[in-house]
Amino acid sequence: METFEGKVAVVTGGASGLGLAMAQRFADAGMNIVIGDIEAEPLAMAEAAIAAKGVKVLPRRTDVAKAEDVEALAESAYRTFGGVHVLCNNAGIGGSPGAMWELSLDDWRWVVDVDLWSVVHGVRSFVPRMIASGEEAHVVNTASLAGLVSGAVGGPYTVAKFGVVALSEQLYYELGRAGHNIGVSVLCPGFVNTNIYDSGRNRQPGYGEAANEPTAEAEQLRATLQAMREQMLQPAEIGDLVFEAVQSRSLYIIPTGSEALSDAVRARLENVVERRNPPLDLPLI
Ligand SMILES: NC(=O)c1ccc[n+]([C@@H]2O[C@H](COP(=O)([O-])OP(=O)(O)OC[C@H]3O[C@@H](n4cnc5c(N)ncnc54)[C@H](O)[C@@H]3O)[C@@H](O)[C@H]2O)c1
Repeated sequence: METFEGKVAVVTGGASGLGLAMAQRFADAGMNIVIGDIEAEPLAMAEAAIAAKGVKVLPRRTDVAKAEDVEALAESAYRTFGGVHVLCNNAGIGGSPGAMWELSLDDWRWVVDVDLWSVVHGVRSFVPRMIASGEEAHVVNTASLAGLVSGAVGGPYTVAKFGVVALSEQLYYELGRAGHNIGVSVLCPGFVNTNIYDSGRNRQPGYGEAANEPTAEAEQLRATLQAMREQMLQPAEIGDLVFEAVQSRSLYIIPTGSEALSDAVRARLENVVERRNPPLDLPLI
């Protein structure tokens, strides 16, 4: 996509972290912004921060786990602005502590609903409208390094994010082969300094309480990650990468600068090709 001024970007989870950085970057390019987020107060703050850039903002309380909420977000965006040119299916959560066999069905459903079904909902509600408009458009799905490498973080998160990578690649093939002028990107960062380490704040009441208390080891990891936050990538850097990927129509958005990240992906693929069992320990990436 070469021009952005006056076009429209929809960002789910745009009230915080990576989504807010994407919304800000697209606003800096003159796009009007639609934010769908579950958290009211940060949503209002994001609205004010983006409106201050001189573009139009449409904030909408949305639970991306619910198809009807995402459909209402799409209806509202098209009714207000008449078109959507960039869709960022970004809202997500980290999940509950515990080995996958110890997690409750609600623990599993919460993560898979918010991290994977949300992207299905986004594609089903927005892509047909984008196709019908005939205008150039782009879909960005937020996965994670955990969508390319297993064993690094929790089971449901890894399963959901591998799903987001697969969905994005499949969408790329299907849209491309059908000749639609819609690009696809999948964002796969390692650790970024956001509020994801506190994502229990957004667990909807319908999913009950987490089945397990964090183990001492999990608490230790959380403390290590908290202490590392300033050294992690910052959200604005991801906002720039996403913007560049939409400009250049790049499928994979994998932050460079961390060789450990590329090494982990390469090692996994080599293990697959060589039919070799991976080692059980992974470096923190
Ligand atoms: N921060 C990282 O290290 C990292 C790394 C890789 C991938 N990611 C992914 O980035 C995405 C954004 O997370 P973040 O790191 O910015 O975290 P964050 O907690 O700062 O932001 C997530 C946003 O999503 C919203 N949200 C949560 N549940 C929702 C729901 N059901 N419906 C609508 N909105 C909901 C939150 O209110 C919040 O505004 C997620 O998909 C996450 O998996 C993050």
